[in-house]
Amino acid sequence: MWRKIFGGGKHTPVSDEGDLPSRSIIDRSTMPRHVAIVMDGNGRWAKERGDSRSAGHEAGARTLKRIVRAASEMGIEVLTVYAFSTENWKRPHREVDFLLNLFDSFLEKEIAELHAEHVRLHFIGRRDRFTERFLHRMEEAEVRTANNTGVHFNLAANYGSQDEILRAVRSLAARAAAGEIAPEEIDEEVFSNTLDTAGDPPVDLFIRTSGDLRLSNFLLWQSAYAELYFTDTHWPDFTPEELAAAIEDFAGRNRRFGGLSAEE
Ligand code: IPE
Ligand code: IPE
Ligand code: MG
Repeated sequence: MWRKIFGGGKHTPVSDEGDLPSRSIIDRSTMPRHVAIVMDGNGRWAKERGDSRSAGHEAGARTLKRIVRAASEMGIEVLTVYAFSTENWKRPHREVDFLLNLFDSFLEKEIAELHAEHVRLHFIGRRDRFTERFLHRMEEAEVRTANNTGVHFNLAANYGSQDEILRAVRSLAARAAAGEIAPEEIDEEVFSNTLDTAGDPPVDLFIRTSGDLRLSNFLLWQSAYAELYFTDTHWPDFTPEELAAAIEDFAGRNRRFGGLSAEE
């Protein structure tokens, strides 16, 4: 069980303490600070069971709830998940509508529990195509959880990395044109802090479920040196145990960042 692998995060519920080993098998220094997940395969999961795609998305939402809780208990600092891309509007109307309603009801149902578990929720992506009601719920959830000290949970909704980068470029160009910033002051740190993930460390571990080996326009700048982990498991079947396995795999990677490894 993953609870046997990790020492547990700051907010591990007291009732679970008895299960935890006194020392983590995985050293805190090899824990990824920022984990990103492309939650793919809801449709294929449903198809394999002869179910509707909607049933797949509902099952995916239940998995998300379990994974946020697990990430929080494991002591992951930032978890960013891909829920809806700027390209997903190309899907049939009915599926898009279903997904948007699912996000809305997920927020309505889960926000109290997420808040109680100290999760800090933040949305990344464009906010210009959502209904007033959903926008209001998003903002309310962000304000309510803003001072929480548990996992920082970024939910990417109407998110595309190229769109995010362009929005940042435009905003910096406007500031430069207004004389508020000199072009030479725009460095990696300034740029990172102009993105939707401002303030978050770069992605350490990038996970994609359901077997496709691509990034699909997710966190391209932030994942410059991320370790990639692909699994054939469809998102609804992804478990805290598999997240723990991905983190164990990550702990064994040799991250050189362009340099040489310690022994060299
Ligand atoms: C991921 O599952 C959820 C979203 C993209 C919203 P998919 O709906 O992409 O599932 P597959 O890839 O068709 O199996
Ligand atoms: C990526 O999955 C987006 C989300 C998981 C929200 P897609 O299913 O949209 O990706 P492609 O189309 O296979 O690249
Ligand atoms: Mg897909």
